[in-house]
Amino acid sequence: MKYRVLAVAAMAVATSALVGLGRPAETGLRGATGGKVLIGTAIMSNQLDDPKLAELIAREFNCITGENEFKPESVERVKGQFTFAGADKILAFAEAHDMKMVGHCLLWHNQTPRWMFASDDGKPLPREQGLANLKEHIDAVMGHFKGRIVGWDVVNEAIDDNPANYLRDTPAKRSIGDDYIEKAFEFAASADPNAQLYYNDYSNEGKSKLERTIKLIRALKAKGLRIDAVGMQGHWLLAGPSAQEIDGAISAYAAEGVKVMITELDVDPIPRGGGAEVTAMQKSGANPYANGFPPDMQEKLAKRYGEIFAVLAKHKADISRITFWGTHDGTSWLNNWPVRGRMNHALLWDRDMKEKPAYAAVLEQLKKFGAP
Ligand code: G3I
Repeated sequence: MKYRVLAVAAMAVATSALVGLGRPAETGLRGATGGKVLIGTAIMSNQLDDPKLAELIAREFNCITGENEFKPESVERVKGQFTFAGADKILAFAEAHDMKMVGHCLLWHNQTPRWMFASDDGKPLPREQGLANLKEHIDAVMGHFKGRIVGWDVVNEAIDDNPANYLRDTPAKRSIGDDYIEKAFEFAASADPNAQLYYNDYSNEGKSKLERTIKLIRALKAKGLRIDAVGMQGHWLLAGPSAQEIDGAISAYAAEGVKVMITELDVDPIPRGGGAEVTAMQKSGANPYANGFPPDMQEKLAKRYGEIFAVLAKHKADISRITFWGTHDGTSWLNNWPVRGRMNHALLWDRDMKEKPAYAAVLEQLKKFGAP
């Protein structure tokens, strides 16, 4: 009897030790951070059907953003009819791998069905109808995921690219009015009080958009609304923006009492104009690396990612998340923007999911987040 008791006790100890080891050791980029910053990627749910890619995502990242499947067009294409299958699949994967889930996005001028803010003939809906549609959308979507999303891009890309204007002329603005952003943050705060609330945009490290984004942050706070972080998308180039510009912008946003997130990071090695206005397509353009990405370009990309992450590490107290917009080069939106069907090489892994030199450059700087 005595030996049986000992055997059961030994099993219990072994089991508890295994359970304690149940969580995978922190590996890859996520391991380097010491848990001090969220390091994420943007994915489509069908990418999880590739076991090698799924394993890479779980090994390297502690945060996921749905690239498209949480957007209004995906979840409520038809008013009142919700489709969450793709988003639920991504969320289930995140929860199974101890990863935070970011909701992108509740309100944007792209990928939002016309019915939300305009009638069939394109005329803006009356303010009250636009507000009702927006609130019902936010209540339903945030309600569906309540308590399981670390934070939402409540409004995406609302500041106009034209420095002469403040807000972009969007269907929501035309229907509701200039206070549509405040209303979106008000609705989101009540729909899931535990979710962080973000404003997300591109090129907002540049002086003009930076100033107008700060104006927006102050306006939201003046109305007593909560904004937890500003998203700098980070669709950057080899040539810019400069480390100094990124550095200054992070300092300026942090001074407003919000966290800073780099929400859609990629570094485009193919020369283009700045920005990320997805409707700004070009009919044709250079496709210089269609047959591969040469060693000298790999080194330039690594140097640029190292430079960017050195600035981010300097601001480790201000930065709460860094998300890449895609995982390996074959998943990048930049293969189809601003020119459809190009071969781009903007991320840390190549199409065979082999680490590029840029990976080591990022890993080295990320370790500074976990250092004392
Ligand atoms: O789902 C349809 C599919 O049914 C159809 O067969 C296929 C054929 O074209 O299109 C599919 O929709 C595509 C969608 O991605 C899902 O793959 C759209 O055409 C395509 O335009 C859309 O592109 C997305 C883009 O946002 C749309 O505006 C990109 O994947 C996505 O990376 C990009 O992400 C945005 C952020 O949300 C906001 N910041 C800028 C960033 C880059 O534009």
